[in-house]
Amino acid sequence: MSTKPVALVTGSSRGIGRAVALALSRSGYRLILTARDEKTLKETGRGCEGGDAVILPMDLSEEDSPKRLADAVNSETGQLDVLVNNAGIVVSKSFEDTGAADWDRMMNLNARAPFLLTRMLLPLLRISAAATVVNIGSVVSFKGYEMQTAYAASKHALAGWTKVLAREEASNGIRVHLIAPGGVATDLVRDVRPDIDESDLIAPEDVAEMVRFLTTHRSNAVIDVVEMHRAGKTPFS
Ligand SMILES: NC(=O)c1ccc[n+]([C@@H]2O[C@H](COP(=O)([O-])OP(=O)(O)OC[C@H]3O[C@@H](n4cnc5c(N)ncnc54)[C@H](OP(=O)(O)O)[C@@H]3O)[C@@H](O)[C@H]2O)c1
Repeated sequence: MSTKPVALVTGSSRGIGRAVALALSRSGYRLILTARDEKTLKETGRGCEGGDAVILPMDLSEEDSPKRLADAVNSETGQLDVLVNNAGIVVSKSFEDTGAADWDRMMNLNARAPFLLTRMLLPLLRISAAATVVNIGSVVSFKGYEMQTAYAASKHALAGWTKVLAREEASNGIRVHLIAPGGVATDLVRDVRPDIDESDLIAPEDVAEMVRFLTTHRSNAVIDVVEMHRAGKTPFS
């Protein structure tokens, strides 16, 4: 029986989630990895220290996936100390062109699935000695940018329930954080903002380092939200 704390990172096959998984693994966590693509998930698993990562491939936007994932966490480790809700997609469309299917796709994966998953994992988190939930929001958790109607709505929804969860679970010892980055060098941004020079983007490892800090520093100082922007952007804009 492992004595390591356990961290579940959704969307850990690549991008920010992969960097977060590797950083938490270096900090001594046993990782549970999930995304759709088994091959790249296994690559992340091979990069994790200890050779004990649990790989659970699934499409989180499917109706029964949050329950299947929560059940698998219960049966595979029966323990959860850190939950990083990171899996997300963006479809770049104007308000006028955004259809019901676009809306449902983004709301399902970016807001509804992490809500259901977190709710089902609360019993395990409540018995952890240092439970932490980190939700990966976005700069559009608070702002609205052109061509991001449904994406911005989904990230506002995520931020909304994050705040409620943080208040409700504080007395149960669960710390809940929102990281709101803008412009991270991943496939997601390469697809929707090919105009941004790659060298100007935030590294996924910078976001991972923030997750590692939030999960490993447990003092009387609690950080609710971390907003991160590219160095080329105007601060506090
Ligand atoms: N990059 C940015 O500038 C930026 C800025 C702010 C916020 N974010 C947020 O950061 C998070 C990670 O994004 P990223 O930039 O790292 O993007 P990414 O490189 O495209 O990675 C997205 C991850 O989510 C997984 N995923 C996608 N659809 C899925 C589904 N239906 N079911 C399960 N997993 C799924 C992907 O794996 P599979 O394809 O294998 O399923 C992948 O592991 C997202 O929530 C995004 O909104 C990103």
